[in-house]
Amino acid sequence: MHPDLDAVINRYGTDCLKWDYMEKWLGVPEGEALPSWVSDWDFKAPDFILKPLQERLDHGIFGYSERSEEYFNSLIDWWRERHQVTLQKDWFHTTPGSLPAIAMLIECWSQQHDQVLVMSPVYHAFFRTITNTQRTLVTSSLVNDNGYYTIDFDDLELKFKAGVKVMIFCNPHNPVGRVWTEQEITKVCELCHQYGVYLISDEIWADIDFSEHRFFSCLRVDESLQQKMAVCIAGTKTFGLPSLRLTNTMIPNEVESIPFKNKLQAYGIDVYSAFSLVANQAAYRNGAEWVDQTIIYLNENSRILDEFIKAELPNIIYRRQESTYLSWLDCRSLGLSDEALEKQVHSAGVIPSMGYAFGEDGSGFIRLNLGCPASVLNEKLLRLKKALIN
Ligand SMILES: Cc1ncc(COP(=O)(O)O)c(C=O)c1O
Repeated sequence: MHPDLDAVINRYGTDCLKWDYMEKWLGVPEGEALPSWVSDWDFKAPDFILKPLQERLDHGIFGYSERSEEYFNSLIDWWRERHQVTLQKDWFHTTPGSLPAIAMLIECWSQQHDQVLVMSPVYHAFFRTITNTQRTLVTSSLVNDNGYYTIDFDDLELKFKAGVKVMIFCNPHNPVGRVWTEQEITKVCELCHQYGVYLISDEIWADIDFSEHRFFSCLRVDESLQQKMAVCIAGTKTFGLPSLRLTNTMIPNEVESIPFKNKLQAYGIDVYSAFSLVANQAAYRNGAEWVDQTIIYLNENSRILDEFIKAELPNIIYRRQESTYLSWLDCRSLGLSDEALEKQVHSAGVIPSMGYAFGEDGSGFIRLNLGCPASVLNEKLLRLKKALIN
């Protein structure tokens, strides 16, 4: 099925965080501004998701729902075919989103004030997931070589030696866009194993990888390294379903999964939204070709941005992302404070996420969402130029 991603669809008036809530959260009045902050995309869901949802809606009874065999199989088949991972049905723990799963896992696998590590700059919500569960946030800065980020393994080991209990690993990485290699992932898993660190690998961007950069799951490392591991997978980013709130967290070691399972039951998170189940099952079962085409479109948007930056904003460093539809732009050469940078882009009518939100290492950067029709992207780029050339 060929996706129609060029359609420009008005999202105002749908209680949409990205469009309707710019004023409330960012102080940007509704009007001409083009939001590029929240990481969802502006594409309509395909018919192979909408039709089963409509049928479920038309049925009209919305009682408690369970996960069917076909639900599990649709995910198991997808992961076997696309990622060479054989998921086991008893690894699945299904929650309304990834962040609730990550927060509850932190609570299960550590005590108050224990250290929880992330590699920064990183998806900002991880910070509050750690601090709001009364854990101690520890960061290990990624190494930035002209826009290409790698892991500082020496620093990671030092931090592990100093007592880290849990690591949240963003694989692929938001915002720097890296698809970590098999070697990098194996090394992270070996270090966690060596120091008894629980590893939570957030793999919700797994399906969006570009050209030669093939996603590699932590579930592919040797079984002996998977004993203190949880892996979050979701159709959220792949099919644009974030408000349907559904993530599956895989825990290969049954004993380690028991506290998490108990917690889900205690909070009544062991029943599921019928709409989420229907949408995800249909998406995984029928979405392969659509996703392939969508990735080509997103990759083309990244190429458009790359050409634009080279031609019009050569002082800005943009290394094309290996995954995600989020571009990470290094604007430090402009010599602006974060405040001034934010003010300039906002007044030009383009609203990216500001890099400082992703940790200190993000200061001077912006994260621009490329998940939109190419025509809208082109308009955003013209505004970006207006904002940054002065
Ligand atoms: C790496 C990563 N993890 C988690 C989330 C949020 O996941 P959820 O909406 O399922 O809680 C995002 C959203 O952008 C993300 O980029």
